[in-house]
Parts: sequence; structure tokens; C-alpha cells
Amino acid sequence: MRSDPQQTPEEKRAQKAQMRRAFGLLRRAAKPDRHHLGWAVLWLIVAAALEVIGPLLGKRLIDEHLLPRALDWNAIGMLLGGVLLAGAASTWLRYLQLSRLAGLAMRSVQRLREQVYGHVLRLPMAFFDRAITGQLVSRVTNDTEAVKGLYIQVLFVILDSTIVLVGTIAAMAWLDWRLMLIVVALMPFVLLIVWLYQRLSAPAVTRARQLRSDINAQMAESIGGMTVLQANNAQARFAERFAATNQEHYTQRVAEIRANAWLLRPALDMLNVVLLAAVIYFFGMRGGSNAMSTAEVGVLYAFINYIARVIEPLIQITMQFSQLQQSVVASARVAGLLDETGALEHGKPRHSAAANEAPAGSPAISIRHLDFAYIDDQRVLHDLSLDIAQGAFVGIVGHTGSGKSTLLSLLLRYYPARHGSILMNGVPLDDIDIEQFRNEVGLVPQDPFLLAASAYENIDMARGLPRERIEAAARAAHAHDFIMALEDGYDTLLGEGGSRLASGQKQLIAIARALAGSPRILLLDEATSRIDSQTEQIVQEAMSELRGRVTIVAIAHRLSTIRDADRIVVLNHGRIEETGSHDALMQIEGGLYQRLYLLQQLAA
Ligand SMILES: Nc1ncnc2c1ncn2[C@@H]1O[C@H](COP(=O)(O)OP(=O)(O)OP(=O)(O)O)[C@@H](O)[C@H]1O
Ligand SMILES: [Mg+2]
Repeated sequence: MRSDPQQTPEEKRAQKAQMRRAFGLLRRAAKPDRHHLGWAVLWLIVAAALEVIGPLLGKRLIDEHLLPRALDWNAIGMLLGGVLLAGAASTWLRYLQLSRLAGLAMRSVQRLREQVYGHVLRLPMAFFDRAITGQLVSRVTNDTEAVKGLYIQVLFVILDSTIVLVGTIAAMAWLDWRLMLIVVALMPFVLLIVWLYQRLSAPAVTRARQLRSDINAQMAESIGGMTVLQANNAQARFAERFAATNQEHYTQRVAEIRANAWLLRPALDMLNVVLLAAVIYFFGMRGGSNAMSTAEVGVLYAFINYIARVIEPLIQITMQFSQLQQSVVASARVAGLLDETGALEHGKPRHSAAANEAPAGSPAISIRHLDFAYIDDQRVLHDLSLDIAQGAFVGIVGHTGSGKSTLLSLLLRYYPARHGSILMNGVPLDDIDIEQFRNEVGLVPQDPFLLAASAYENIDMARGLPRERIEAAARAAHAHDFIMALEDGYDTLLGEGGSRLASGQKQLIAIARALAGSPRILLLDEATSRIDSQTEQIVQEAMSELRGRVTIVAIAHRLSTIRDADRIVVLNHGRIEETGSHDALMQIEGGLYQRLYLLQQLAA
């Protein structure tokens, strides 16, 4: 881990906390596979031991057979066979264990990704007010991928290299501990060279990474804004901009590779030579006047072999440390997202009181002294109280920003109320089992949200409803005819966000979706705002067919939609200003509803 001297204590603490978080995450994700880790370490140790044996056998070959010229072909054959076998077995074992670890990493990341996605699906709505979609997507895909890198590229390489390093040093100590000390004493220079190289290449590496994300961003932006881009005839300019970024990315990558070619490899080669020279030098010194005692040539041979094996794992370990930093940051981000809880409690079933066990005759919805603010001190709803009878049709009107959608969000339990309460059939919302609640309440939102899927799937919304029910709902929403006119009927793919449909048609699909769940309460937010007057009348008919059976709360800018409502609630700056039937409200001279209505009459 990089630890700059200019780091403040707080930064250090934050970094430590980040490390703890990241490794906690890794541990938890790998837990079901932990036995693999133990076995892998064990077998890697065996592999390192086998690897270390080769030079030892070579030493025996030199000392016992070649130098004394005792050419016992049988023994020589056995030794050479042993070298071959140990090398092959070691390679094979390492391969098996590293694939085992790769499997562990992949499964861990798979688990992690499922967990993160599942977690995001359950987060309270207030979280999404703050969240930025691109960042969230990046958490689920890129950051979890970085976690895989942390396992495979960082931890496992460090683990493997450390085992090889320790094994080699142990073998050297066993052969000649003084020579081993010389090698170990020179090892810090390897670290120094790699560190210097990383310092020098870091700007290029960082810049290249940044440029890569720029390339992604440009691509995404261009696709998202294709209509605007083409309308402004900007293709050539965008292509130029893209090419420039791409070119710079190339340049930075080349700089990175140059630093490697000109600095890292030559310096390490030189160090290798220095190490060898030092070993040979001390070896000679010890031999005294008669130079190299023949009995020790084998040791020298083995040492030369081991030196090569010490340097590579050292480079690997040092190189991984800079990776570690980034991977830890990514993992900590994922861990942070998983720690995000918000106020999930208000959506959890406590003693799941069923709404239909409710005392008879209680209103479908009753709102008592409801206060709400998204942001502290900026109240959106003030002391709202309202009873909505079973099967009633209630319209909600008011200026833009008066809190209509907010009221629906609270009815839908997206946010907990600050003060006051909402009861459904006499039971507080918080006490109703959330699944049952969602089954009983249908929503047609202000922006109809469509999946990139077929019309059928869009109405079904993964509820697994029977086909007849979906068609019936589409008929009731008057979406059946236009769906049938599409080339594959209900199986026609609607494109991303339903781009194949007109916005009014999207609204009809959203209405069909809500109706398909056979809700007891239906909430509509501007469900008719994008539909022409003729289709609006059709929707109104559909609503009147539901009347009495389903409690309907409909927000409408277009007042004709809710003209027939049993009751109209006029909101003004988060307060109920007027309430009553259309006729009653029109009687209030200078009233808000009357003014809104007359304005619309004028505009029409
Ligand atoms: N997620 C949010 N975070 C913070 N403030 C919000 C959020 N959503 C809405 N608001 C604020 O709450 C107030 C009421 O918004 P709301 O969406 O309920 O209005 P509305 O009556 O539905 O308006 P419209 O008719 O335009 O849909 C507005 O002042 C708005 O700025
Ligand atoms: Mg709204």
C-alpha cells in the first residue's frame, strides 16, 4: 500500500478503514468457498517445494557425478528424470491451484454482484433521489469486476509469489545461509527499482485509465443523444473528438510500455548480474587462496538458479501493490453500497396485518395530519388530513410543485411520513405486509416506464400472470387494439424505454399493467396527460367501469379527466385548499379550482 509522508492522520485512518471494508467484503464473498483457499495454499506450498528441488538435484548431479567424473548413467538418468518430474509436477500443481483460485474469485464476484443488485432493488426511494444512475451501474458491473481483479491479479499473485519466494530463500539457507544473506541483502534494490519504475510510469498509467473511461463516456453520450447529434449534423466533429481521445490513449499506453522497456527490464537485468557477481565474489573469497573449491561448484550452480527465481516473484509482489490501492478503493465502494440501508424498516413486514382483516366500514385510505419533507426544513406537505371511502373516485389537482406526486409517493410507501399517519382500511401502512400491499395497490406513474421487452412482458412485469388476464387488462385499458396492430401482437418488442410506441400508447400500457394486478386501490399520476381527448374519453370509460369496485385516486392536470370524480381535492403549496365535487367546487367564487377550470376552458 502506498503511504505518502504528506498524508494526514485522518487520511491514513480513512485508508485503513477502506482496507478493512474491502477485505471484509472479500472474506464474506469468498466464505462459501473458503475450503478451496486452504487447499490451494497447501498445494501451492507443495508446488513451490517441488520447484525448489530442481536446482538441488542439479547440484547433486554436478557435485557427485560430473566433477568426480563418476559417470554412473543410471544415477544420472534418475537425477535428470527427477528434475524433469519435479518441474512438470510443480507446473501442473500451480496451474491446478491457480485455476482453483480463479474459480473461487469468479464465484465470489458472481455472488457479490447478485447481492449488490438484490440490495439495490430493495433500497428505499430516498436513496435514488441522491443516486446517480451511471455510478450505480458502475458499482454493480465495473467495481465488482475490480473486486475480481483484487482476488486474481493481486491477492493470489501475491500469495503465490510469496510462497515461491519463501521456499526459494529457505532452500538457499539450507544450502549456504551466508550466501543466502547476501542475496537477501540485495533484494531491497529490486523493490527500489520497481518502485522507481512505478513512480515514473504512474502518470501515464493514470492518464491512460482516465482516457479509457472518457472513451466509454463519449460513446455512451453519443448513442444517448443520437437524435440531437444527427439533427445538428455533428457526426464529423464527434468522430474527430473521439479519434483525438483515442490517439492520446494510444500515446499514453506507449509511454507506459516505453518506461517498462527502457527502465524496468534493463535495470532488473543489471541487478541480476550484480547479484550473480556478488555471490560469485563472496564465494571466491571464502575459497581462500586455492580459489573455488571444487566441492562447491554445485552450490554455485544452485544459487545462480535460485537468484533468477527470487527476482521474478519480487517484481510480481511489488507490481501488485499499486494495483492493490485501486482495487481496494473499488471494493470499498461496493462495500459502502451494501452498507447503504436507509429506512428500509418501513417496508418490512412486522406483524403482517392483512388489509382485509380490517374493521368493517373503515375508509380505504385515511390520511391523518400528514407532514412530509424530502429535505429537512423544506416541507412539501403540511398537515394533510383526508378520508377516501371504499370504491370512491378521488381526483387531486393543483399547480405544478404543489405536492401531488409526493402525496402518491407516500401512499405508495416510497418514503416514510415525517409526522402523522396513513391508514389503509384502518391499518397503518407500516403494519401491512409489503408484498400484500403491493398486490393491492396499482400505480400508473407520471412517466410511464417501459422495459426493452415485449408488450406482453411489459404488462406482466415479471409477475407471471396468465395470458388471458393480461389481454383482459389491455382490453380494459383500451391498449388491446393498437397492440394487435403491431407486427407480432403481444410479442412485439417495444424497444428501449418503449421507444416504438407513442407516448400516449405507453401510458395505455402502463394503465394495462396496473389493471392486470387487479388492485383494490388504483393510483394514477397524470395518466391522461399525453393522450388525445378521444382516447382520454376511452380511459375515462375504463375508469367508470372500475368505479365502486376499485378505489381510485387520480392526479390530473387536465380537469376533464376527473370531472366526474366523487370528490376533488385541490392542493396548494402542500395544503388542501378546497375539496368537493366538481359542481361544488365551481360554486366557490374566486376559488382555486374554479380559476384552474376557467383557465383551461379558455385555453381549449
Ligand atoms: N425527490 C425529491 N427530492 C427533493 N424534492 C423533491 C423531490 N420530488 C419533488 N420534490 C419537491 O417537492 C415539491 C412537490 O413536488 P411534486 O412532484 O409532488 O409536485 P407535483 O404536484 O406532482 O407537480 P407536477 O404537477 O409538476 O407533477 C416540489 O417543490 C419539488 O421540488
Ligand atoms: Mg407530479
